[in-house]
Amino acid sequence: MIKPPRIAPSVLAADFSRLGEEVARVEPHADLLHVDVMDGHFVPNLAVGIPVIASLRRITELPLDCHLMTLNPDRYLEALKEAGADIVTVHIEVFPDPADIAAQARAVGLGFGLVINPPTPVQAVEPFVELTDMVLVMSVDPGFGGQQFDQTVLGKVERLRKFIDSAALGTDIEIDGGIDLTTIRSARDAGADVFVAGTSVFRTDDPAAAIEELREAMIV
Ligand code: DX5
Ligand code: ZN
Repeated sequence: MIKPPRIAPSVLAADFSRLGEEVARVEPHADLLHVDVMDGHFVPNLAVGIPVIASLRRITELPLDCHLMTLNPDRYLEALKEAGADIVTVHIEVFPDPADIAAQARAVGLGFGLVINPPTPVQAVEPFVELTDMVLVMSVDPGFGGQQFDQTVLGKVERLRKFIDSAALGTDIEIDGGIDLTTIRSARDAGADVFVAGTSVFRTDDPAAAIEELREAMIV
């Protein structure tokens, strides 16, 4: 069953010279904090490692939702847990059979999710949904913030919603990339529970108000 919508601001779009202030501004309004980890191999960009996650843990009680865009995330699960991550999501394109990494994440006490890129069919994750707390549907090619929402992924969200509901699973559907006032409603209508928003939250004058406007855009 679809749950109340939750907003996960993506720190990738924050001003890293003032990360503490940026997080403090969104903390009372956000439900999770989305942290993009990039290794320069799986995606053509570098972003955020263990020390930044540990610093975030010291300044916020929001659950840290760590999106691992890396080729060997299994090597870092313990360190991520120690740094204070709550949930890690790994790409099905990296682990076509994710049973082992799911078990490893659970063993160190992390929540676990799977991510699918825009070209990847939802069938790739269906056999493994019950191993997860969350399936993250990318609505842009991973690697950079500020890209345009790919509405062709909405069909995948709809299909996943049906799959999860008909199996009576509690898995969250998260959507990431290009979520703003013009796109969030369609993602909600398709069945998403968790909405990652970078540019549309942190690249505004008032990130707290921006989150509340995103919430409103789902109900009006
Ligand atoms: C892209 C990242 C996203 C990114 C979203 O690879 O996974 O989380 O921060 O940024 P916006 O909301 O600007 O599209
Ligand atoms: Zn992300």
